[in-house]
Amino acid sequence: MEQQVDQAQPEKQVFPPSPEFRDAAVARPELYEAAATDRLEFWADQARSLHWHTPFTQTLDWSDPPFARWFDDGELNVAYNCLDRHVEEGNGDRVALLWEGEPGDSRAITYAELTSEVKKAANVLTDLGIEAGDRVAIYLPMIPEAIVSMLAVARLGAAHSVVFGGFSADSLRARIDDAGAKLVITADGGWRKGKVSPLKPAVDASLEPRGDLPAQDTVTNVLVVRRGENEVDWNDRDVWWHEAMADASPEHEAQPFPAENPLFILYTSGTTGKPKGILHTSGGYLTQVASTHRNVFDLHPESDVYWCTADVGWITGHSYVTYGPLANGATQVIYEGTPDAPHSGRWWEIIQKYGVTILYTAPTAIRSFMKLGRQIPEQFDLSSLRLLGSVGEPINPEAWLWYRHVIGADRTPIVDTWWQTETGAIMISALPGVTDAKPGSAQVPIPGITIDVVDDAGTSLDHGDGLLVVSEPWPSMLRGIWGDPDRYRETYWEKFGDRYFAGDGARLDEDGDVWLLGRVDDVMNVSGHRLSTAEIESALVAHHFTAEAAVVGASDETTGQAVVAFVIIKQSQLADAEASDIAAELRSHVAKQIGPIARPRDIYVVAELPKTRSGKIMRRLLRDVAEGREIGDTTTLADTQVMRIIGDKVVR
Ligand code: WTA
Repeated sequence: MEQQVDQAQPEKQVFPPSPEFRDAAVARPELYEAAATDRLEFWADQARSLHWHTPFTQTLDWSDPPFARWFDDGELNVAYNCLDRHVEEGNGDRVALLWEGEPGDSRAITYAELTSEVKKAANVLTDLGIEAGDRVAIYLPMIPEAIVSMLAVARLGAAHSVVFGGFSADSLRARIDDAGAKLVITADGGWRKGKVSPLKPAVDASLEPRGDLPAQDTVTNVLVVRRGENEVDWNDRDVWWHEAMADASPEHEAQPFPAENPLFILYTSGTTGKPKGILHTSGGYLTQVASTHRNVFDLHPESDVYWCTADVGWITGHSYVTYGPLANGATQVIYEGTPDAPHSGRWWEIIQKYGVTILYTAPTAIRSFMKLGRQIPEQFDLSSLRLLGSVGEPINPEAWLWYRHVIGADRTPIVDTWWQTETGAIMISALPGVTDAKPGSAQVPIPGITIDVVDDAGTSLDHGDGLLVVSEPWPSMLRGIWGDPDRYRETYWEKFGDRYFAGDGARLDEDGDVWLLGRVDDVMNVSGHRLSTAEIESALVAHHFTAEAAVVGASDETTGQAVVAFVIIKQSQLADAEASDIAAELRSHVAKQIGPIARPRDIYVVAELPKTRSGKIMRRLLRDVAEGREIGDTTTLADTQVMRIIGDKVVR
C-alpha cells in the first residue's frame, strides 16, 4: 500500500474529519452534551422527530427491570412514519428504493409508489385474516416485496418474523412454530450466484409433518411472490402475491398503536441449541434506528444515495435497510444477489451506476475484496462515495485502511458500528464529522448510551481488557425473548444484575476508546453471522454416523471465524462411515438441518473429546488444534492422553 500510514502500527493512526466534512455534518458535538445533561430528555427529543398519533408524556418506565417501557403512553404507526409522512410532506416523488436484481433487472420505487404498494399489501393481509397482535413469517429474497411485506405487517400492528432465505426448512419450521405465525410470505425463488434458488419448496416442507412433528397447524395461508419463475407445487392455502395485489385497494388508513406494540421477532443464535426470538417493539426502536441512521451515517436525505448490503433476514437489514432509512426518507439501493455474480466487480459497478454516497457493509466482505485485489474496484468510478461503514464483527486495522484507501480514496470517514440483534440499533460508533477515527476501534458510545467495560466481578475498568456491558436501558433494547422471560433474564441480566451483559469481550484504551475482542460465550461469528456451537453440535449428532460432536470457531482470514467440528463416529457405523466421504456427508447434513452458512469448514474425526473432570468439553484445546497451534495447558483434563490421541487421529 502506498498510503502515508504507519504500517508497523496501523492502529496508532488517527484520521480526523476534513474541515469540509465537519462543516456540513449532520452530527454535532452538542449531541454528547445534550445527552450528558439529561439522557432521557435527549431520547425524548429524538423521539419527537417521529410522527406520534398520540404524543407520549412519559419517556422511560424502568419500574420492572429488565423489562423496559419507552414512550409508553404514546401511540404511533411505524409504517406511517416510514411512508405516508414523507408523501404528506411533499417528498412523494423522491426515490425510496433503487432495486437491482442479480440478473441485471432493476426498479426505482418512489415514496408515493412504495406507500401505495404497502397500503395494498396491508389490505391483502387483512383479507387473509391478519390483525394487530398476529405474527407473520417472511421468507423472501432481497426484492422490494420483502420491504413491502415488513411494512404492511407493521402497518396493521402485527409482528413479523423474517427468516433469512438461506435457512433450511427445519429452521424455518422451528421459527414458525415458536412465533405461532398465521401467515408465511415467500417467493417461488430468488436469484443467487447466477441461478434461481428455490424458496417455496422449503416453505412447503416446513408445513408438512417433519420427523416426529405433525403438520404445522397455525399457518392458514402462504402468500407467494413470483420472482424466480421456477416451477412450484401449489396447495389450497397458497395465494399468488401478484393476483391478490392486482385486486387490492390502494386506500388504507394507518391506525395508531401503542409505542410498546410488538414490531418484530428476529431469531438469533444463543449459547444453547434453540435460537432465541428477540422481541422488538415500536416507538423506542424506531426512535433509535432513525436517530442513529441520521447521525452515524451523516444522512442528507435530499442528496444521498445510501447502500447497506445486508439482507433483511438479519438485524442490520431490519434496522438499516427497512426502518432507519425509510423513517428518514432516504434514497437507498438494495441488491438481490451475491457480490460475485455475474462478475467480481458487481458491487463497485452498482456504486458507479447509482452514484452511491454511503456504503455500509461487513469486514468479511472487505477482506474478501482485499484478497481479490484492488485492480477490481479500480476499474469503476467510486468517487461518489463520501462515507463508509462497517458492522458485524471486529474490523482489523489492515482491512480498515484498505477500505479507506482503495474504496474511499483516502477521503471518506469510516464508522465502525458495534451493536447486536438485541440492542436493535447502533450503540458504539464514531460520529462522522465529530470523532477522529481510529482504525480497528469502534470507539465511543453514541450520545445517550452508557457503556462500561468491567472485570468478572462487575467492577468498571479505567482501561484494560474486560467484558462489555450497557449500564442504562436504551430505547431500541430488546423487550425480551419471545415466550421465555426467564431466558431473557438469565442470558443478559443475571451476570451483572442491573447491567446488560452483551456477551462480548472489550478493551478500553487510554483514550477511552472501545476495542471489541469477540464473543466470550459459545457463539461464533462467521462472516458477520452469529452461529451457535450447540446448535451445530446437535445437528451433527442427529446424523446416524455421529456419537458425539464438539464445535469451535477457529479464526479464519476471510470469514473472521470458521466452523470447525470434531466428531466421534459410532462403533456400529464405523464401516459405513469409512466407506463414504464422512466430512462431505456431515457437512451437507448440517447445511440441510440449519442452512449452508452453518456448514463446517473442517471436520476432524476423533476417537475422544477432551473433557474436564466435570465432563465439560474443553473448547480452548480444540481451538488450538483447529488453528494449528501448539496445544495449551491440559492439566485440568480428565484424561491427559486425549489431546495426544486427537492430535494423531485427525482426518480432514
Ligand atoms: C459482533 C449484528 C466488533 C459482536 C449487528 C456482537 C461486532 C455480534 C461489531 C452481534 C463491531 C457486531 N465490532 N464486533 N462493529 N458489530 N459485532 O446480533 O460480537 O448479528 O455481539 O448483530 O456481532 O451480532 P448480530
